[in-house]
Amino acid sequence: MANTKFPKGFLWGGATAANQIEGAYLEDGKGLTTVDLMPIGKNRFNVLLGNIDSLTPKENEFYPSHEAIDFYHRYKEDIALFAEMGFKSFRMSIAWTRIFPNGDDESPNEKGLQFYDDVFDELRKYNIEPVVTTCHFDVPVAVIEKYNGWKNRKMVDLYERYTRTIFNRYKDKVKYWMTFNEINMLLHLPFVGAGIVLEEGENKLQTLYQAAHHQLVASALAVKACHEIIPDAQIGCMLAAGSTYPYTSNPDDVWEAMTRDRESFFFIDVQSRGEYPGYAKRFFKDNNIHIEMEDWDEDILREHTVDYIGFSYYASRCISTDPDILGDQTEGNVFASVKNPYLTTSEWGWTIDPKGLRITANQLYDRYQKPLFIVENGLGAVDIPEADGSVNDDYRIDYLRAHFEEMAEAIEDGVEIIGYTSWGPIDLVSASTGEMKKRYGYIYVDKDNDGNGTLQRSKKKSFDWYKKVIASNGVDL
Ligand code: BG6
Repeated sequence: MANTKFPKGFLWGGATAANQIEGAYLEDGKGLTTVDLMPIGKNRFNVLLGNIDSLTPKENEFYPSHEAIDFYHRYKEDIALFAEMGFKSFRMSIAWTRIFPNGDDESPNEKGLQFYDDVFDELRKYNIEPVVTTCHFDVPVAVIEKYNGWKNRKMVDLYERYTRTIFNRYKDKVKYWMTFNEINMLLHLPFVGAGIVLEEGENKLQTLYQAAHHQLVASALAVKACHEIIPDAQIGCMLAAGSTYPYTSNPDDVWEAMTRDRESFFFIDVQSRGEYPGYAKRFFKDNNIHIEMEDWDEDILREHTVDYIGFSYYASRCISTDPDILGDQTEGNVFASVKNPYLTTSEWGWTIDPKGLRITANQLYDRYQKPLFIVENGLGAVDIPEADGSVNDDYRIDYLRAHFEEMAEAIEDGVEIIGYTSWGPIDLVSASTGEMKKRYGYIYVDKDNDGNGTLQRSKKKSFDWYKKVIASNGVDL
């Protein structure tokens, strides 16, 4: 491994999302959000894609987000454990529906605002820097009913009102912000990313890219508002990253890999460089996509670009143009990927590729020349507690260590990385499957897929290991 020191002040920590930890889904005035309609089990994937027949929870389904891990009532205990591990930062999201329960309410919900004040105060007590996503797979259900979610331009105004409200309220407490979590996921999971319910016969690509335009303008307006209201804050974008490798050196495969990457880079190109790239214009032309824009949209996009590039990295992807090879796909991940013969996969079929983190980080830095923040990475695995309750998760330690070594290499390559927050430092509800069994945490939560368990927290073996990594600023792996 490169003999690299992580930069002073490196923001080691963990990352979560409101809907995967808080629970209390209707408490203190909170409104229903998209994830509150996503059951565990066979119907979940249909809903993720927007094939949904009702916008109210059903009696015969189990919805993991409704209680999640009850962070809403247990945040003090959880933050104390993060502090014990030495966290420098904690990534979390604000639930839009705690602040504006219907998304378009005239005034914000004070109880919702107060909850996040309390959480930020608790973090500050331990000198943990909050890193806040304004929207993590979180669209108020009421605006889906009323406006069809992000299909509608109206969402830009509503999001601007929401973000201005939270910037004003938390301007002294939060200095790191992100606009939309994994914004490129909108193309793959339209209901999750944008509250879009697709109708029969509609031009899907037209709808998705129009919604993407609305989010991109909304994101730029949030950057503008953040810079005005909190001049000493930094605000970033957030990409579901992971480089695409060509399966062979056949130029068709190479071109296909580049095209797949551009599908994702498209969003960040706009958010970071401030304009629609040429390849996107060609794609729109070839696919009969016409983006409706206001006169000032291009100015807004150009003038209000992000300060840093936040990204998640779980896996690299691999693509082929050969139909026989294309048939051999990895399972479980929303990004279509051919099995890479050089790599293994997790229990959920996600490719494990530590070096891919170095490759992805270099690729992003070469492209944008802005600081990077790795805001998600980790191994979802089944943990089986021993008879005495301990969890010896050496597999998780091995996964993280290998990724930290490659992160160090990337830093040595000259890539500016400001922090690393591993996904789910405490076990939480899986976004894709709704399971509790898919665990990422250093902290075990006693709860199973059916909702049984005491919710008691306990430390896994990886808890002390990560504590040591942070204390040595990445030297002692
Ligand atoms: C990212 C999301 O896609 O991956 C998280 O931002 C999600 O919300 C994480 O939880 C891991 O995915 P999963 O499906 O294992 O929970």
